[in-house]
Amino acid sequence: MSDQTRKILVTSALPYANGPIHLGHLLEYIQTDIWARFQKLRGVNCLYVCADDAHGTAIMLKAQENGITPEQQIAQVKADHERDFADFLIRFDNYYSTHSPENKALSEMVFQRNKDAGYIVEKTITQLYDPEKGMFLADRFVRGTCPKCKSPDQYGDNCEVCGATYSPAELIEPYSAISGATPVEKDVTQLFFDLPQFEQLLREWTRSGSLQEGVANKLQEWMEDLQPWDISREAPYFGFEIPGYPGKFFYVWLDAPIGYMASFQNLCQREGLDFDEYWQPDSKTELYHFIGKDIINFHGLFWPAMLDGAGLRKPTAIFSHGFVTVNGAKMSKSRGTFIKARTYLEHLNPEYLRYYFAAKLNNRVDDFDLNLADFAQRVNTDLVGKVVNIASRTGNFVKKFGGTLSAQMDNPLLVREAQEAAPRIAEFYEQREFGKAMREIMALADHANGYIADKAPWTLAKEEGREQEVLAVCTTALNVFRLLTLYLKPVLPGLAERAEQFLAVEPMTWADADKLLLEHPINKFTPLMARVDMAHIEAMLEASKDSTPAAATKKEDDRAARAAEQSDGHIDISDFSKVQLRVARVIEASHVEGADKLLCLRLDVGALGERTVFSGIKAKYSPEQLDGRLLVLVANLAPRKMKFGVSEGMILAAGPGGEDIFLLSPDSGAEPGMEVG
Ligand code: MSP
Ligand code: ZN
Repeated sequence: MSDQTRKILVTSALPYANGPIHLGHLLEYIQTDIWARFQKLRGVNCLYVCADDAHGTAIMLKAQENGITPEQQIAQVKADHERDFADFLIRFDNYYSTHSPENKALSEMVFQRNKDAGYIVEKTITQLYDPEKGMFLADRFVRGTCPKCKSPDQYGDNCEVCGATYSPAELIEPYSAISGATPVEKDVTQLFFDLPQFEQLLREWTRSGSLQEGVANKLQEWMEDLQPWDISREAPYFGFEIPGYPGKFFYVWLDAPIGYMASFQNLCQREGLDFDEYWQPDSKTELYHFIGKDIINFHGLFWPAMLDGAGLRKPTAIFSHGFVTVNGAKMSKSRGTFIKARTYLEHLNPEYLRYYFAAKLNNRVDDFDLNLADFAQRVNTDLVGKVVNIASRTGNFVKKFGGTLSAQMDNPLLVREAQEAAPRIAEFYEQREFGKAMREIMALADHANGYIADKAPWTLAKEEGREQEVLAVCTTALNVFRLLTLYLKPVLPGLAERAEQFLAVEPMTWADADKLLLEHPINKFTPLMARVDMAHIEAMLEASKDSTPAAATKKEDDRAARAAEQSDGHIDISDFSKVQLRVARVIEASHVEGADKLLCLRLDVGALGERTVFSGIKAKYSPEQLDGRLLVLVANLAPRKMKFGVSEGMILAAGPGGEDIFLLSPDSGAEPGMEVG
C-alpha cells in the first residue's frame, strides 16, 4: 500500500483519572507520539487519539478523599494530564474522556449487540460486601492474611510475598481496605461476557502474525483457560448504568477501550471524518494500540472479542512495551525516583527525555531502564556534542562571510551518504526500532564532525582569500545538519523547529530529504540546545522526595530559569544581572579520589572569602597548571552537594568538555573578588 493511501488510527492506553502522569506513563505516550509524528511527516494520514480513563471505584474513592464530586475530580486531572502531555510535545489529534456522551452511547451499542448475539450471560456469584460502607468490594479493596504463606496484609487477589493467587473469600481474617470493617459474603447476580465462545477467533487472531512474540506467547498461555468475564458492578459505582439493569454499572474495563472509539468519534464529528470507515469489519484502515505489558490481556483477549461480537473490526496489531525502572529499580517514592511529569518539567528539557527514550527503545516488550547518569551522558554526547555541534562549529562562519550558503559543496558525497540513509531510517521508525534509527543518525553525525575537524574551517577562516572554501565546507556541514534534524524531527520536534528557523526553511517533511540547501541565505546561529546538568537531575530527585514549601519555591526559581533558557534564546539584562560573576584565584588545585573527571579547586574570591569548587576539567588540566591562576567564578550558584563534598559555585570554561575545554581567565592584574560583567 503506498504511503499516501494508508489511513492509520493509533492510540495510547487511557491514563486513569486518579493521579498524575509520571515518567513510566511517558515512555508509552512518547513512543506513540514519535511513531505518529513519523507517519505524518511521511504524508501518511495518521490520527492519534487518547482520553482519560475516568470511571471505576478507585476514582470514586479518590474524589471522596479529596472532598469533591467524581466529575470535579476527573475534570481537574484531565486538565493536568493534558498540560503535561502538551509540555512533553505529545501531540494528540484528540484527547477526550471516557465519561462522555459518545462513550456512553458506544458502550451501550457494543453491549447490546453482544447481548443480542448471545455473548452476555448472567451468573450469580458470592462477593464480599462492606456492611459499613454499603458497597461490594473489588478484590483490590479487600485485604487480609495470605491463605498460602500466612503473610499478613495482602491484597484480595494475590499475595505480594509468595505470589499465590486466590479469591478474596479465601483470605484469612479479611477486612475492607476502605472502612476496615469485616466484609460479609453476599450473593449477587452479575453480567458476564462469555469469552470462551471466542476461542477460535482469538486463536486465529493470535496467530495472524501481527503480534509481538512476547505478546503472542502470553495470549497463547491464557487461551488454555478462557473464563467468562465479569463486566458489571453494583452501585455505588462511578460509571455508566447498564440499560435494563438498574443499579448495575459497566465495569470500567468494558467502557475504557471503547473510549478509543469515542475519542475518535468526537474527532470525526469535529472534523467531518467518516467514523464507520475505520470501524467496519471490512475496514481498509489500520488500527494500532500502544499499551504497557500489564494490560495485554484486556487488549489481546477481551477487546478483540468484544469488537468481533459487536460486528466491528479488530485491531491490526497491539504494540506492547515493558515497564520503566529508574537506575535499575522499580520507581520508588522514598528514593525520589517516582518522578512525576510535572516535576521533571520543572527541572529538565522534555526533549532530553524524548531522545533518551528513543535512543533505547526497540519493538520488544522488554523493560526500560532510565539510568540518569547514562541519560545525561547520552543527551550531552549525542545531541549537544554531535548533532548541534555541527551547526555551532559552522553556522557563524556563514554569517561572517555573507550569510548565504554557497552554490557548490566541498564534499557532496558526505551529504549524499546522509540522503541515502533516509529509507533505512524510515524503515526503523516504521518498525518501532527507534534505537536503531538513532544509531544511524548519530553515525552520520560522527562522519560530519570528523569531516569538520579535518577541514578546520576556523583555521581556514583566518587565512586571506579562502572565504569561498570556508563557505563550501560549511555548506556541506549544514546540509548534513539539516538532514539530521529532519530525521530527528519525530523525536525532537522542538529542535527541528529551531533548526528550521536557523536555516530559514519551511517546516521540513520526510520528502525533503531529497533536496539540498544551496545559494540559500540562513539566519544567525543561536544555541539550539543546552547540555544536561547533573545538578538539575539531582534537584529533580530531591523534589520528588518531598513537597515542602521550601522545595516549592526552589522549583519556581528553576522553572523561571529554564523558561529563559528555552525561550528564543534571549534573556533580558535583569536576568543576566542575577548571575554574580567574580574573579577568583586558585589557591590550591587537587585530584579528587574516586573521581575521574573532577578537580577540586580552593579559590580566593577577595571580599567573598574562600570557596571550594569541583570542576570537570581534569581531562585537560593538571593541578600544577592551575596554581595561582585567575578564573571567572559564578559566585551565587546555590551550593551543590556532590558525592565528594559541597561545590560552592562554578568556574567558567568554553568548549564541549573532555579534553576540548578552555578555562576563561581574566588578564593578569585583575584582583580576586572583582565583579565580572
Ligand atoms: N486505564 C488503564 C488503561 C485503559 S486503556 C483502554 C491503565 N491506566 S494507567 O494509567 O495505569 O496506565 C496507562 C498506561 O501507562 C498503560 O499502558 C501502562 O502500562 C503504562 N504504564 C504505567 N506505568 C508504567 C511504567 N512504570 N512503565 C511503563 N509503562 C507504564 O492501565
Ligand atoms: Zn502468600
